[in-house]
Amino acid sequence: MSMMPGDKVETVNEFLMAPEEYRQAVEKIVISHAINELYGAQVFDEPAIALAPTPYSKWLTCRVAMEEYGHHVRFRDLGNEIGISQERMVPSNTKKPLSIFEFPLETWEEFCVIKLLADLAEIIQVEDLALCSFLPLRNLSRMTMPEERFHAQFGKDFCTEICESEEGKKKVQDAINRYFPMLPSFFGRPNSKNNEIYRKWSIKQRKNEEMLEDYMKRTKDLVEELGLTLPTVTEPKL
Ligand SMILES: [Fe+2]
Ligand SMILES: [Fe+2]
Repeated sequence: MSMMPGDKVETVNEFLMAPEEYRQAVEKIVISHAINELYGAQVFDEPAIALAPTPYSKWLTCRVAMEEYGHHVRFRDLGNEIGISQERMVPSNTKKPLSIFEFPLETWEEFCVIKLLADLAEIIQVEDLALCSFLPLRNLSRMTMPEERFHAQFGKDFCTEICESEEGKKKVQDAINRYFPMLPSFFGRPNSKNNEIYRKWSIKQRKNEEMLEDYMKRTKDLVEELGLTLPTVTEPKL
């Protein structure tokens, strides 16, 4: 029996018999998540433990770092099961992590802004994969979701606390101004060929531009709730 667009793939064994286009599309997603979760944990979450100003904030930052490394491990394990080699799931010269990880993290306020903004972007991606036609990937995304929500809430709670002082508010706004312009490119290009294939096979549900639009709206509301503003991004950095 051959697979049709819209069909579910329930097991790894079924996956291995799916059409090549389907398998390659799922592999691309698993690889990019495995790489980005690992790289993000290395450049942001783990170094942030040292930047956290109190034992309480260090404790929660440790938890965030543990969970982000855990996300890498989950995606990597699924990748192993579907036959992706280890080297393809770690950052390398050929497969560079996304530009959102190029931000040079120096302060605690910057880290809180990264969790506020970048983890919301991740939530939108994971929400989409929570309906994925490949059920092991769907389950993995559903397991990951509460943790990503915790990271975004962590960002919001600490940003709210920092914004209680005028000086803190300035620091958070400044970090938003510098970090937010890096985020639209996280959603990929409009009219993406890859995305078309993902949607054809119900691996992803929404277009890149639809997810970006949703993100812009949710971020604007979030930042305004903190009494701050989003900088205008005229040309998304791709
Ligand atoms: Fe994550
Ligand atoms: Fe996260």
